[in-house]
Amino acid sequence: MTKRNVVLVTAATGNLGPHAVRQLLDAGASVRALVLKDDPNVGRLPKGVEIHIGNLGDPDSLDPALDGADGVFLMWPFFTLNVNTAPAVVQKIAARPRRVALVSSVGVHIGLEPIDNNCHAYIEHLLERTSVSWTFLRTTGFHANALGFAGQIRDGGVVRFPYGAATRTSVDESDVAAVGVKALLEDGHGGRKYLVSGPEEVAQREQVRILGEVLARPLFWEDVEHQAARDAMVAAGWPPSYADGALDYFAMLTKKPEVGSKVVEEVTGRPARTFRQWAMEHANAFR
Ligand SMILES: NC(=O)c1ccc[n+]([C@@H]2O[C@H](COP(=O)([O-])OP(=O)(O)OC[C@H]3O[C@@H](n4cnc5c(N)ncnc54)[C@H](OP(=O)(O)O)[C@@H]3O)[C@@H](O)[C@H]2O)c1
Repeated sequence: MTKRNVVLVTAATGNLGPHAVRQLLDAGASVRALVLKDDPNVGRLPKGVEIHIGNLGDPDSLDPALDGADGVFLMWPFFTLNVNTAPAVVQKIAARPRRVALVSSVGVHIGLEPIDNNCHAYIEHLLERTSVSWTFLRTTGFHANALGFAGQIRDGGVVRFPYGAATRTSVDESDVAAVGVKALLEDGHGGRKYLVSGPEEVAQREQVRILGEVLARPLFWEDVEHQAARDAMVAAGWPPSYADGALDYFAMLTKKPEVGSKVVEEVTGRPARTFRQWAMEHANAFR
């Protein structure tokens, strides 16, 4: 009997994590989920996963979850946890030969996210200095980011947000998971820096129009000015440098659509999922 791959998924109860856990289980891996103590979202995880209580802010708490693991589906909760402990976490992961799939960002791919802004590029940099077999999933925005419109859609249908004309190649979080699962369970993905995107260019206000079609009611977009949007983001807890980076990027995307790729199709053998498909599956979140 061949040994089952043991894979640890961090940040497991967010938007992407449950997809990664399910797909790893479906592929026959033995799956561990790193979950914060008293995580209210643990119910999102499918049956069959082994829950390990741990905190990326406390590297020693990862020891039991890493013991005997062959791979790590690594996600760092950038908005809620600083990266002070990232070097120690990466060191622990690198202490034995393992595969790592890191969910990174298109911002690194196009050179907008420098190493010193303590975000995705920084963790890529830490992994590059180890001997683990890493694969970077440099993803565009998740389709799930549209959940940020849900409150305004439920409360009347006018979405007020900056840069409606910003055109992205947003990606289904389940497709990001699928590429990561291949990277962890199949040979040939080590050292690859994949740009993981959706299949099409869709402006933000067009996403809202599509949601309106799916919900069968008209929805409207109203641009919020740059400075007002920045103030609101910072008040909501965004680090100011991330807010500036995101808004400048969106401004740029009103002139030139976001760069995309065929990676999902090339790696998984099936087309990347569209925003409309995602919207139909998540319609209840907007009702
Ligand atoms: N959204 C995008 O457009 C985008 C684009 C590029 C890259 N990414 C990357 O994609 C990854 C996944 O995003 P997501 O939207 O799925 O994540 P998310 O929904 O923000 O979830 C974050 C997860 O991390 C957990 N967590 C929080 N603090 C933790 C800690 N100290 N130790 C361990 N776990 C902790 C949270 O647990 P609780 O539920 O208990 O809070 C939650 O399960 C992130 O690394 C993000 O940077 C996202």
